[in-house]
Amino acid sequence: MVMESAYVVKDGIAVVSFDNPPVNSLSAAQRKALHEQVLHAAQRDDVQAIVVTGGGGPFCGGAEIREFNTPAQKASPTMPELIEGLDKVDTLLIAAIGGFAFGAGLELAMALHYRVLGAYAQLGLPEVKFGFLPGAGGTQRLPRLIPMEHAAPLMLSGAPLGAQSAFDHGLVDILSHGDLLEDTLDFARKLIAAKAPLRRTSALSPRMESAPADLFATLRADIEKRTPGHKGKLSIVDCCEAAVTLPFEAGREFERARFLELLATPESKALRYNFFAERQAAKIAGVSKDARPHDIRRAAVIGAGTMGAGIAICFMNAGIPVSLVDTQREGLERGMATIRGVYDTQVEKGRLTQEARERALQRVTPSLDLAAAVSDADIVVEAVFERLDLKQQIFRDLERLAPKGAILATNTSMLDIDQIAAVTAREADVIGMHFFSPAHVMRLVEVVRCAKTSDDVLVTVMQLARKLQKTAVLSRVCDGFIGNRMLQRYLQQALFLLDEGCGIAQIDTAMEKFGMAMGPFAVGDLSGLDIGWSIRKRRYVEQPEMIYSRIADRICEAGRLGQKTGEGWYRYEPGSRKRLQDPEVDRILHAHREATGVAQRAVSDEEIVDRLMLALANEGARILDELVAQRASDIDVVYATGYGFPVTKGGPMHYANTLGLDEVLARIRKYQQGYQGGQWQPSPFIVKLAGQGASFE
Ligand SMILES: NC(=O)c1ccc[n+]([C@@H]2O[C@H](COP(=O)([O-])OP(=O)(O)OC[C@H]3O[C@@H](n4cnc5c(N)ncnc54)[C@H](O)[C@@H]3O)[C@@H](O)[C@H]2O)c1
Repeated sequence: MVMESAYVVKDGIAVVSFDNPPVNSLSAAQRKALHEQVLHAAQRDDVQAIVVTGGGGPFCGGAEIREFNTPAQKASPTMPELIEGLDKVDTLLIAAIGGFAFGAGLELAMALHYRVLGAYAQLGLPEVKFGFLPGAGGTQRLPRLIPMEHAAPLMLSGAPLGAQSAFDHGLVDILSHGDLLEDTLDFARKLIAAKAPLRRTSALSPRMESAPADLFATLRADIEKRTPGHKGKLSIVDCCEAAVTLPFEAGREFERARFLELLATPESKALRYNFFAERQAAKIAGVSKDARPHDIRRAAVIGAGTMGAGIAICFMNAGIPVSLVDTQREGLERGMATIRGVYDTQVEKGRLTQEARERALQRVTPSLDLAAAVSDADIVVEAVFERLDLKQQIFRDLERLAPKGAILATNTSMLDIDQIAAVTAREADVIGMHFFSPAHVMRLVEVVRCAKTSDDVLVTVMQLARKLQKTAVLSRVCDGFIGNRMLQRYLQQALFLLDEGCGIAQIDTAMEKFGMAMGPFAVGDLSGLDIGWSIRKRRYVEQPEMIYSRIADRICEAGRLGQKTGEGWYRYEPGSRKRLQDPEVDRILHAHREATGVAQRAVSDEEIVDRLMLALANEGARILDELVAQRASDIDVVYATGYGFPVTKGGPMHYANTLGLDEVLARIRKYQQGYQGGQWQPSPFIVKLAGQGASFE
């Protein structure tokens, strides 16, 4: 029984509102309420039109993803039952869309007879980002409202469409520049007066200007080129084709079958997992309720090198004025030239206007004077050479020079930040902000909480990271924090595999086929082999129990430091990044193998992937056990956003869960019997979870 008070009727127009804040997602309960209210209102003699609105909030963010693959997803009315039910209603139905209508929210709006859109609202079908497709009629209705030439790319990119474009393409009937509900009621009254027809989208013909065969062939070829075998995208094209070749109802059934198929794929599950993992990463367990973020109005970055320049750009893009400091005039000029170059490229590519470039550049002040540069900074980010003594000296200076209450952050990759904090009397203000290179492009920032970092500083930096459009993941201090600490184990295995007879290109190719953006040796050449060399030299002294193959040292000793010297694991022609195999490397490899006398064998690609992945997961488990990371999903976010891990596989911890931790443990025990097996100590945490039949949570 529907309470009539659940919706409002005025002058013959019923207003039905979503009521599932914050984004009005279409949960089972919301679907039921909406369905009942619309059907109830439609039966009343005094109702001539029904307006569906977000009730002052956004229209609808889409299906409730948390309910996917649960009984709630199948609860009646299901999404298709709701949307097809609305399509059959014989009373005028109008959507009043404020804020946004995404996914099933837009599919629902497209099943109504008319649409009014707030002038700043956005529309979109982002399903492809979760590895599936609009499965409640979206692929069939969108090309009936806007031409296929726009409809297909919109679904394939998942990108939002602004209000003006939506109106220009014909997706909505009017734009509201004032009060959305008032304008919609006005529109409804006009439709009633004009006895406007019920314009069912399902009864319209698909819109298409080009020859179908050409358009779909081009789309498929483009997908195969950019994202080979992407099941979600290829299925979207199939459904678009069905929209023009099949009657509406048959096309909708075709779409639904594809949707259900995709929903069950491991890729889609991993993509949904990543989505929630990123949201979860922003939450810090155990901070005081009284913690208050500081205002960050001005920043200073110390060191105008590779990282400093990139970090300054992040502040500039977020509208925060920043001073960029270096001791070397040359270094400062190089840093400023890098910054200008980044903005120039954006203007050249049409991503930025000349005016926006000028405005951004006004936000950076180059300086050779540390005292002046930090005097009014709310946060200082240090990014000088990776030397403890140098960083400690800078923090001693900052203690004197930075305003009281300013946050003192370091971008160190591997140093012990507690030892940096300890030289100041302001330990509560010290924190790590570990950006990744290039800092203005890479989304990840590891926020490193020191022993004495205050909760206020912590919440400020987490909030600041969001403002800088970064994904922040919290880590405790340890050697390499979350990402680089795990990476050492991954690289260790890659080097052992070389000892055993694998080729460099074989390992890189196997990892790239698995989905890593780049294989380990290609990454090394790109970032410079000297960084890892100096880390290993330190580890040989500090952690003699951790053993590396010396082959990487032999390469560095030959002066091969990666792309910057034109030679590393591969050879590079001047000005080119194309990896070329080098007989000289084969010679070094051969001599190394002769000297070590390791038995050579053929290693399968499966073993390469398995050993590198399990090395990550095993160290990740130790990191969890030591409470360095808050949760397994945070580790996966680090890898997906900072290390080129394929999002369709979730992350190393999710990957281990999908194998099953008992299987992971069995494989680690097998590797313990192999070459350098002593380096494979299963993490006690994995042993414990596997014993309980549990997974990483
Ligand atoms: N390059 C990377 O991929 C990367 C990634 C993450 C973190 N980091 C870390 O970021 C920091 C900087 O690395 P980078 O690659 O940008 O180094 P870089 O060598 O490119 O730049 C360092 C800059 O610091 C300047 N500098 C040195 N001493 C200074 C001082 N006392 N005051 C002011 N400026 C000074 C130098 O003149 C130079 O311009 C390091 O701690 C590094 O570990 C680097």
